Amino acid sequence: MTSERCRDIAHLSAVELRTAVPEQTIGFFTALMGMTEVARDGDSAYLHAWDDYERFTVKVTGAPVSGIGRTWLRAAGPAALRRRVAAIEERGLGQGWTGGEQGIGRTYLFRDPDGHEFGLYWDTEWYEAPADARPALKNQAAAFPGRGANVRRIDHVNYLAADIPAIDSFLPGVLGARLTEQIVADDGVPSAVWYHVSDKSYDLVYTSDWTGTAGRLHHVAFATDQREDILRAADVCLEAGVHIETGPHKHAIQQTFFLYVWEPGGNRVELCNAGARLLLAPDWRPVSWSAAERAKGQAWGLKTIDTFHTHGTPPVGPGDTTRLPPRPASFKLFVPNGSGMTLFLNSYPPARRCRRARTAGRTRTARPSSPRRPGRRCLRSCGPGGGSVRWP
Ligand SMILES: [Fe+2]
Repeated sequence: MTSERCRDIAHLSAVELRTAVPEQTIGFFTALMGMTEVARDGDSAYLHAWDDYERFTVKVTGAPVSGIGRTWLRAAGPAALRRRVAAIEERGLGQGWTGGEQGIGRTYLFRDPDGHEFGLYWDTEWYEAPADARPALKNQAAAFPGRGANVRRIDHVNYLAADIPAIDSFLPGVLGARLTEQIVADDGVPSAVWYHVSDKSYDLVYTSDWTGTAGRLHHVAFATDQREDILRAADVCLEAGVHIETGPHKHAIQQTFFLYVWEPGGNRVELCNAGARLLLAPDWRPVSWSAAERAKGQAWGLKTIDTFHTHGTPPVGPGDTTRLPPRPASFKLFVPNGSGMTLFLNSYPPARRCRRARTAGRTRTARPSSPRRPGRRCLRSCGPGGGSVRWP
């Protein structure tokens, strides 16, 4: 008999991604994924997906290497927050309270047994769309952007972990999360686990890190309204020179329709759509998949691509296969800002930081060979390696 389900964690809220090319990563999420930049603070930018009721969905932070920073979880209420903090401290994984940021209030920081950082909170400010992004319907956070993939909200995070059984004892007992599906190796030890805190079929996923390294990221996933949005996203990424790793296709596990791409900083991003699938059963029975079943491939037979098992962020050394794919000649973004400007970015620039990156954000005029447009804000988004802006 399954014990009564804990609902102390309401949902996954936001995630911090580290990138060595922050301006390009921001460009990927805003121009291609359809998010909106809502704030900057130091080396970080805060981005909002159009139907996120909170102030931000992704925090992009410039860093020497890629990977995941903090993951935010919202508690179901003040009492639920107190209960979970007590459970975390009992396990000795708490790091204490911090003041919060960008609309998120006082936050309790902790780490999972693999070292990934989390922030748990209750107080939050609801997103107020600016005048030019007010939705037609008042039950929506912001206007539909009509740009790129138009991701609606964050869906799940898939972490890499050196010790899956340790995660298996942490998530139910400390966070109150519930196992929904898992891959069990022939020796009976789980190698990947899917947990949920909401009625979605999964929110937090952990996959065994083949390198034995702790604290890495496999991917962050964002939900689209329709499967068809994912097909369109594949074309958008193709045109932009973004590395498409695999898909569109349908997972056997959890039945999610998916597309995996690597954002310019190298972090794997999934666009996903689970259709109408929810797990409403209060006594849900976890589904186990064997290695033999996994070998059959995804739902419609597509074999899982090798890099799906070998790429994680941050890379752990020259011996692994987490290197970025071959550099395309350019990274092309079409920015619907009303100017008619087409922005070209190099996807994976050299490490040297250029003058443009150091002065990013200043008002500029177009290059001399282009038509003069004085006072227009340059969308040159150099990152450490530079790029170029061309007028049509
Ligand atoms: Fe996923």
